[in-house]
Amino acid sequence: MYRFKMPLSTPYDIVVCEKINTYINDEIKRVYKNKKIYIITDVRVGTLYLNMIEESLKDFEVKSIQIEGYESSKSLETYAYLCEKLIELGATRDELLIALGGGVIGDLVGFVSATLYRGMPFVQIPTSLLAQVDSSIGGKTGVDFLNHKNILGAFKQPILVLIDPLFLNTLPVRELKNGYAEMIKHALIYSADLFFMLKKNGLKVNEDIIYENLKIKAQHVIGDEFDKGKRMKLNFGHTFGHIIELQNNCLHGEAVIDGMLCAINYSISLGLTTADTKDY
Ligand code: GLY
Repeated sequence: MYRFKMPLSTPYDIVVCEKINTYINDEIKRVYKNKKIYIITDVRVGTLYLNMIEESLKDFEVKSIQIEGYESSKSLETYAYLCEKLIELGATRDELLIALGGGVIGDLVGFVSATLYRGMPFVQIPTSLLAQVDSSIGGKTGVDFLNHKNILGAFKQPILVLIDPLFLNTLPVRELKNGYAEMIKHALIYSADLFFMLKKNGLKVNEDIIYENLKIKAQHVIGDEFDKGKRMKLNFGHTFGHIIELQNNCLHGEAVIDGMLCAINYSISLGLTTADTKDY
């Protein structure tokens, strides 16, 4: 089990631990004193885990909303749908949202949390590898618009992030590889040790590997929460990658892998990187 603090504008804890059903109720009680909780999840994750999470939150009144978890859901239409549903359900500004799902759910719910009633608290429970090692921490939220990725958004920190690696047992392999791409990115920008650890372990992901990745992400976000300096290193491969993703309709991680290769090739052509870099 790992617990560490993100000392940002809203400080919060990140907990990495298996069996979320055994600790979610107490962890949320530590940071949230009201009764009502609204869980927003996607249909796949909802079918697998919503009952378990709802039953575990025994000291709260829980309501839920399910949407499709595709990238196309990261839209103003889905954003408006969620706001409408929450208003219909009677949500108020001091009540808690939970994002239960992958990066699409986290980004969308974060954006609702940043804007509805000018801000509601939210907790991230990432269930995909990509969300567990990257998008659930650091507070980047938003939606796609006019064929641009994440162009409407806000920095909004969650009040808590709960990461259970057991969610990965039901993740499709393509989704696992999707998150793996961000781990390779972390290794390339910061840690040769992580790079060789990933090479050795293949797609086997455990608490230790998630923690190694979160440490690298945290090191880049702390001190540059609003992405003006060292945090920008986390965008490695993303400039090319976002274009590849939009044009090929592929997964984010798939595009980031190609984007990193494009960036390396471009850098070699400028004489900034040695030609053997891509042999690894
Ligand atoms: N995913 C890159 C960042 O959070 O800055």
